[in-house]
Amino acid sequence: MNAVRESLESNPIEILTSPSEDCPFRRCDGTGFIWIKDWSKRHKKNVVDEWKEECECYDQLIKQREIDKKLDLSGIPPIFKDATVRSFRTDIYQQTDSRERAVVARKAAINYVTNFEVMQENGKGLYLYSDVKGSGKTRLAVSIANALVSQHGVDVAFIKSMDLISQVRKTFKNDSELTESEVVESYRKVGLLVIDDLAIKGASEFEERIFYDITDYRLEHNKPTLFTSNVSIDSLEDFYPGGRVGKRIKKMSLEIYMPEESIRDQEADSENDDFEKILFGN
Ligand SMILES: Nc1ncnc2c1ncn2[C@@H]1O[C@H](COP(=O)(O)OP(=O)(O)OP(=O)(O)O)[C@@H](O)[C@H]1O
Ligand SMILES: [Mg+2]
Ligand SMILES: [Zn+2]
Repeated sequence: MNAVRESLESNPIEILTSPSEDCPFRRCDGTGFIWIKDWSKRHKKNVVDEWKEECECYDQLIKQREIDKKLDLSGIPPIFKDATVRSFRTDIYQQTDSRERAVVARKAAINYVTNFEVMQENGKGLYLYSDVKGSGKTRLAVSIANALVSQHGVDVAFIKSMDLISQVRKTFKNDSELTESEVVESYRKVGLLVIDDLAIKGASEFEERIFYDITDYRLEHNKPTLFTSNVSIDSLEDFYPGGRVGKRIKKMSLEIYMPEESIRDQEADSENDDFEKILFGN
């Protein structure tokens, strides 16, 4: 008997999959499966001699795929895909009161994620606002949404308030595939809704009705919503004069006053510095 045959007969099981760094346990090639061959069965008819088994990483992999799918479908802008609450900087603001506000906001965001179950049971969301544009409202709201998807498996939809209105308006076209109620229904029912840039301008009666339809349903069904806005909840009445939208939002959200300082301007300055160096040299 030659050496190869001898070793095959004493140990006929061969692992065909080469382990790679894509597997956290370094057991499979990142696919979640390990292929195995039983050489002792190779000449037997109608006997399976090659099969795959689940790797230890399989459950984790499926979970991660579900998270990725939820994030893909969420409408979260790609630039905020990797934004996390922990990487929300509080030292980046120049003014002391901005830094203090950022510390409070970041802590509240972390506590919200940690205590999401109780928040969800009671339908409590957050309302992040500050007058100054570019201060981090969308950044923080999206970071919370990202954390809730990955840690709590929540379905999330992110939409700018004016885009929501345009989506509904589009359904009035003859060739629209969706009806108004289908669009509204999707925002009523999603596990976590993020409405970005609420109250950007005074709402028409039609716009107010759409926001009422969504917020009223979410309030009654304890579905949490995150809002960002340039105005406080008490000022919402100036934008939704019927008063019902503001009242509902007040009931369903905890208000967080964000810094009144633009990080977007800071970012633009330093980004342009880098490009100016390319254009003009040092
Ligand atoms: N605390 C922070 N740490 C890190 N990056 C930040 C922080 N705050 C803001 N940024 C960055 O600054 C930019 C503007 O932030 P963001 O879009 O969240 O502002 P905003 O308050 O939503 O503005 P607007 O009122 O115009 O909607 C983004 O690129 C964001 O990533
Ligand atoms: Mg914003
Ligand atoms: Zn694996």
